[in-house]
Amino acid sequence: MPDIAKTERRIVGFLCNWCSYGGADTAGVARANQPTDLRIIRVPCSGRVNPLFVVRALLHGADGVLVSGCHPRDCHYSTGNFYARRRLELLKHFLPILGIDPARFAYTWVSASEGQRWQHVVTRFTEEIHALEPAPHFEELEPLYLSQRQSTEPKRPFMPQPPDLLAKLKEEIRTHLPELDCVLGWQKGRDALHAVPFFLRQEEDLERLSLDATCHNSLVRYLPEYKGKKVGIIVRGCESRALVELLQEGLIAREDLHIFAIPCHGLLDVARLEEELGRYQHLENLVIEQDSLRITVDGKERSFSPQAFLRSTCLGCASDEPVLADTCLGSFTAGESTPVTAPELALLDGLNLTERLRFWRGVMDRCIRCYSCRNSCPMCVCHDHCIAESRQPHWQSAEHSVTEKFFFQIIHALHLAGRCTGCGECQTNCPVGIPIFALRAHLNRVIAELFSGYQAGRDAQAVPPLLSYMVDEANIQEREWQ
Ligand code: FES
Repeated sequence: MPDIAKTERRIVGFLCNWCSYGGADTAGVARANQPTDLRIIRVPCSGRVNPLFVVRALLHGADGVLVSGCHPRDCHYSTGNFYARRRLELLKHFLPILGIDPARFAYTWVSASEGQRWQHVVTRFTEEIHALEPAPHFEELEPLYLSQRQSTEPKRPFMPQPPDLLAKLKEEIRTHLPELDCVLGWQKGRDALHAVPFFLRQEEDLERLSLDATCHNSLVRYLPEYKGKKVGIIVRGCESRALVELLQEGLIAREDLHIFAIPCHGLLDVARLEEELGRYQHLENLVIEQDSLRITVDGKERSFSPQAFLRSTCLGCASDEPVLADTCLGSFTAGESTPVTAPELALLDGLNLTERLRFWRGVMDRCIRCYSCRNSCPMCVCHDHCIAESRQPHWQSAEHSVTEKFFFQIIHALHLAGRCTGCGECQTNCPVGIPIFALRAHLNRVIAELFSGYQAGRDAQAVPPLLSYMVDEANIQEREWQ
C-alpha cells in the first residue's frame, strides 16, 4: 500500500450497494463530518464479502476493515446478510489465533436512509483504530521459535491392532470384492514405517494389504474420484466422519459404498519418528507392541514408547465407533466426544497476539508450497480449481513470500470451516512440520461454540452451519455501536 498522511490510518470498508453505500452517500449529501481514513469498496451485497477479503487486507497492511450491509430482513437478495453474519462472526473469532487483533475488524448494518448512523459508525470505528498501534508488518516481525510439542495424556492408551484383525478383514474383502470395482486400503511403502494407499482390484492383491498403526493416510480423500463406481473402503472412527461429510455435500453416494469399519487405538506420528531416527539407509524391522516400539535401522535396534509418538489428533480421541459401517470388524470403544485441545492449539492459546503473529512468521517461513496439506485433506475437493492456484480470479501470487504462504494456509483453514473432521492429515503430511492443524482445531472449537456444539461429520442429514442461518442467532451478539 502506498504511504498515506501520518495522521490517517488505512481502513478498508466493504459496503453493500443497496443500503450501506447509500447510507454513506446520504451522510455525504447531508455534509455530515466524517473521518477520511476509510477507503470504500462497493459490493453487491454483504453476502458477497468473502472473509478472505478481510484477512488479505489485514495481512497486507490495512489497520482496520469494516463490513456494512443492509439490516437483517432488509437484504436486497433477502438472505445474503444472514449468511454473511455467520461467516463474519466466525472470522472475528478466527483472527486472534492468527495473531491479529479482532478489534481491527467490525461488521454492521446501515440502511440507505441512515446517514447519521453511518457517520456515527465510521467515526467510532476510526477512533478505535487510531487508539490501536499501526498494524504490524508481518514480513518484518522477528520470528518466534517455540517447541511445538506439549505433553498431553491420550484419552485412551495406545494399543496395537489385534493380531487376527488383518486376517478377518481380508476374509470380508474377499467376500465382497466380486461386487465392487475396487477396495481402498493400505500396503507397505518404501519400508515398514511408511504405509501407502492401496487400491485392491483382485483377490491376489489381498496378499499386499497391510494394517497397523503406521497406516495413516485417509483413504476417504480418494472417494470423490470414484463417484459412480462401486467402492469398498476401510475406515476408522475419525475417517468415517470425513466420509459422512462427503455424503452431506453430495460428493459421493451411499449406495455405491461398502464400508469396512475397523477399531483404532491410536496412530503413530511417523514424521516425528523419522526425525528421531535421523538419516538411515535401511529399516530392517518394525515391531509395534503396547508398551514398546522397536525399530531396527542399519543393524541397530532403537526402542521408543508408542504413547510418546502418538499423532496429536489421536490424543483427544475418546471413541473409535464409526458413524457409518456396512461391515464392522473387532470391538469398538464408545466414549464421550468432548474434544481436548490439540497440543498445537494449546501452545498458541498460551501466547499473546503479537507472539502468535511472530510464531506464524517463524513457522510459515519453512513452507515450500508443495500443497501436501491440501492434497491429503479428505475435504479439499476442488482439486484443479483450487483458488490458491487460480489466475482468474487471481487470489494470491506464486511469489515466495511468507505472507503468501500464510495466506494460503488461511485459505485452506477457512475453506474447511464447519467441514473439517479433525483427521489431522494436513499436518501429518507436511514435509516441514508446520503445526497447521492448530488453525483447523481452533475453527472447529469456534464452530462448536457459535453453532450449538456442531461437529462436522456426525450426521449425514445435518446442514453445515455456514450453509444455513437463523434469523435470530442464539450465540451471535451483534455490536450495538453506542
Ligand atoms: Fe445489502 Fe444484501 S443487499 S446486505
